[in-house]
Amino acid sequence: MYKVAITGTGVFTPEQVITNDELVTAFNAYADKFNFENNDAIERGEVAAKEHSSSEFIFAASGITQRHVMDKAGVLDPNVMYPHFRKRNDDEPSIMAEMALDACTKALKQSGKTANDVDCIIVAASNHERPYPAIAVEVQGLLGAGGFGFDMNVACSSATFGIQAASDMIRTGSIRSALVVNPEICSGHLEWRDRDCHFIFGDVCTATFLERADNAKGPHFEVISTKCATQFSNNIRNNNGFLRRSLPAGLTDQRDMQFMQEGRKVFKQVVPMVSKHILDHLSSEGRGASELKRMWLHQANKAMNDFIGRKVLGRVPEEGEQPNILQDYANTSSAGSIIAFSQHSDNLKTDDLGLICSFGAGYSVGSILVKRVG
Ligand code: COA
Repeated sequence: MYKVAITGTGVFTPEQVITNDELVTAFNAYADKFNFENNDAIERGEVAAKEHSSSEFIFAASGITQRHVMDKAGVLDPNVMYPHFRKRNDDEPSIMAEMALDACTKALKQSGKTANDVDCIIVAASNHERPYPAIAVEVQGLLGAGGFGFDMNVACSSATFGIQAASDMIRTGSIRSALVVNPEICSGHLEWRDRDCHFIFGDVCTATFLERADNAKGPHFEVISTKCATQFSNNIRNNNGFLRRSLPAGLTDQRDMQFMQEGRKVFKQVVPMVSKHILDHLSSEGRGASELKRMWLHQANKAMNDFIGRKVLGRVPEEGEQPNILQDYANTSSAGSIIAFSQHSDNLKTDDLGLICSFGAGYSVGSILVKRVG
């Protein structure tokens, strides 16, 4: 068995940003327009009037102040409220592959490696732009890497499940290395006209390069172990459809085809599941929570992370122990914990232990216990 190391990470951050105030202005304009157009039905009590959203609520309920998106104009147009993506020819790179290429190039640069060193690419995300050919194979082609690639989906836990799959292949020797890539165009599955959730998501792409530890060139994180779990729940669900450009004939509403959740139930059920999962993972390694120098948690909700941190550590986490990035990125699905890891891991010292943990629909939870080397 070989030791596995994370030797590089890369983050592609879309340039366009939507602040809470911009989002709320667009939503409220849409709500006013809806109420005006449906005035008679609302007065007859047949249709519910849309209430205004508020920046204060969004920040208090989630900790989010802004989000990066691939198309700001479409999302903020009260007549559209959906990202607009130019239809690409089949011989052009897909949007996800382009995002992935940027993140992968950065991860390889940090590792001091090139495409020739890549044996496997896993594109692990909540939504894939198309069923096939796999986005991973397209990324492989754009990078000029050998080996093989495949796509996988475990919703918000896709990154850590992908890292476990890659680690296991490296450990047993079937590959020397893998790029686990998480392009998340969450703006494409979000209903921007739903006041309860319109503020939740943002777009990003992360990449993690894993390789045999004996091939690592510089400081890195040894993957000590990984642990994944799932337990079926309907409380976060997307029934069908992604990056839909028009509604199928006969349909006037696509809400059933987008992200839906019972947010309160999710909060209540996922916090204990995740805290127990982390403690069980540590205990199976003969480690205690007090040995953890850092936790890079899934980035859905600040209050949720505060709860999990307190449950795992048995105290209020200190500044920097459990860094959040959701204030700048919002929920970026499987990419969130990797952004946090990428941006907040440099200052750990040799032998410091850390844990990457993502969780979400399924329910699913995946944790990666890592140790700083060098
Ligand atoms: N602006 C103003 N008020 C709003 C609002 C908005 N955009 N959205 C909801 N409200 C109101 C509601 O109408 C409700 O009012 P009421 O108490 O008069 O009925 C009140 O605010 C509370 O709404 P609720 O939806 O219960 O808020 P919450 O405190 O549960 O926060 C979430 C909502 C979604 C942020 C929170 O439940 C959450 O983060 N859950 C976990 C989600 C998660 O991790 N999902 C994983 C996704 S991958």
